[in-house]
Amino acid sequence: MKPENNDKIAQEYETNEGYRKRARNNLFPLPLLNHIVESIPQDGKFLDAGCGVGSFLKQLIRAARNKGRSDIKFFAIDYAQAMADEARRENPEATIFQDDLKNLSSEVKTHTFDYVNSTDVLFFFNPELGERDKAFASLRSVTKKDGLLRIAVREQRFDKEPSPRFSDFSENDLRTTMQKFGFAIESSRIGNKKNYGPATQDNLDRFYDSLVIVGRNIEQTPSPRLADIVSERRAEALKNEQRGRGGSLKIT
Ligand SMILES: C[S@@+](CC[C@H](N)C(=O)[O-])C[C@H]1O[C@@H](n2cnc3c(N)ncnc32)[C@H](O)[C@@H]1O
Repeated sequence: MKPENNDKIAQEYETNEGYRKRARNNLFPLPLLNHIVESIPQDGKFLDAGCGVGSFLKQLIRAARNKGRSDIKFFAIDYAQAMADEARRENPEATIFQDDLKNLSSEVKTHTFDYVNSTDVLFFFNPELGERDKAFASLRSVTKKDGLLRIAVREQRFDKEPSPRFSDFSENDLRTTMQKFGFAIESSRIGNKKNYGPATQDNLDRFYDSLVIVGRNIEQTPSPRLADIVSERRAEALKNEQRGRGGSLKIT
């Protein structure tokens, strides 16, 4: 059981020097970066959700420029102000928002993206508090129809003690959650071993497999107005039926 709201996690990243040092040196494989660039249509938009210090964004922008793709617009969000500031300094050509993935601001919600990535963020959200669903609903709402969502997290290891800090995913969990939010699974793999802890000897012995799933947003988000109208008409039809007058569900 994980009782607490994890906004503490974002606060922790305000001062997490260990992560900051490690993340600055993270190198992402060029075939992955090129593949993402090629998946983004002409004049498309990319979002990194929970970007940390912005090193993934930086390497992706470099890969795009090397391919002559100056048309792509790059965006990122992070809840920790210090992370958003550093990502901004590292990526002056990108738009970086300081925002909560569980409850996006209206400013971010005005955008939709062709490609949304989130690496090592979703395991912080507590499913028992509905945080995981809120984050997925946000990701869904900013992914364009037919756009791609790539989630990378560490894979749940069945032999380890449940962590008070992380809510890890099994491959099946993550697939099912993405499908529930309207994404068709395009690829799913358990990737390279990765170490997640601070660089102590103890941690260096603890490697987790990272789980990477890419889904395509296949469902059109229903217009809330239309959804409201349908439910109002349904309620009206039900009321009429109960009064014995018969109701109609015809939506014009
Ligand atoms: C382990 S770091 C991963 C950062 C980056 N994606 C990477 O791979 O290096 C987790 C990041 O998630 C951010 N974060 C935590 N809660 C968040 C939330 N509710 N909304 C947005 N970002 C959040 C933290 O501030 C931190 O920068």
